[in-house]
Amino acid sequence: MIFANLGSEATIDQAKRAVDMLEANALQIHLNVIQELVMPEGDRAFSHALDRIEKIVHHLSCPVIVKEVGFGVSAQAVRQLTSIGVQVIDVGGYGGTNFAHIENKRRENPLSDFNDWGINTVESIVEARSASSTDIIASGGIKTPAHIIKSLLLGGRAVGIAGFFLKYIVENKLEELLDVVDSYHEQLKSMMCALGVTEISQLERVPIILYGKTYHWLQQRGFQPEKLAQRS
Ligand SMILES: Cc1cc2nc3c(=O)[nH]c(=O)nc-3n(C[C@H](O)[C@H](O)[C@H](O)COP(=O)(O)O)c2cc1C
Repeated sequence: MIFANLGSEATIDQAKRAVDMLEANALQIHLNVIQELVMPEGDRAFSHALDRIEKIVHHLSCPVIVKEVGFGVSAQAVRQLTSIGVQVIDVGGYGGTNFAHIENKRRENPLSDFNDWGINTVESIVEARSASSTDIIASGGIKTPAHIIKSLLLGGRAVGIAGFFLKYIVENKLEELLDVVDSYHEQLKSMMCALGVTEISQLERVPIILYGKTYHWLQQRGFQPEKLAQRS
């Protein structure tokens, strides 16, 4: 499975060329406003991004995935994106790779307030799931099989892991990373057994207790976390 990847400034021609070049199965369009704002040489104009994405969705024959890169997406953003035909949303939530922090390291005058800016991955999955029945990819700070199973429980259809695997491959061999992935699959099966389910789709019936800051976030946003705790 190969995804091409471009920013939301891309034109229809650029999108088509990227997909053709890679013979990609889908195109990812990343949204990274905070990263650009912190980058000294980053973009400062973000108008009409939704119009450009809509045109790309209608002119491409493969699915379009819109993703964040570590600052998360809100329910409102997901509603806007699905209303123009975006087929898959990757939440790219806060809590893992932090591009504000990375870009700030390159600045003489860091914009430190952006270092803890964003919607965290758990909140972002619930926001996205509540907003739409479209497929959600959960990503942002995912490292362990427990993180994966929790992401699927919250409504992710798949998960994405970037920083953790990239760091692992820098320090270890490719074969060792593949062993880790195999071991994750085994551990996921054990966790599903422990939860009493045989299919990923059955995870949506398993109750989840959310507490602390996440509970308050979801409650204030009107997502009724009690419903997740009482489902069966
Ligand atoms: C070295 C590096 C390069 C990245 N480049 C891109 C990119 O070109 N396009 C993109 O959409 N996301 C890019 N990302 C963001 C990841 O896809 C992902 O959204 C983000 O790292 C959060 O996931 P993580 O916490 O598992 O790393 C990059 C991440 C890393 C670590």
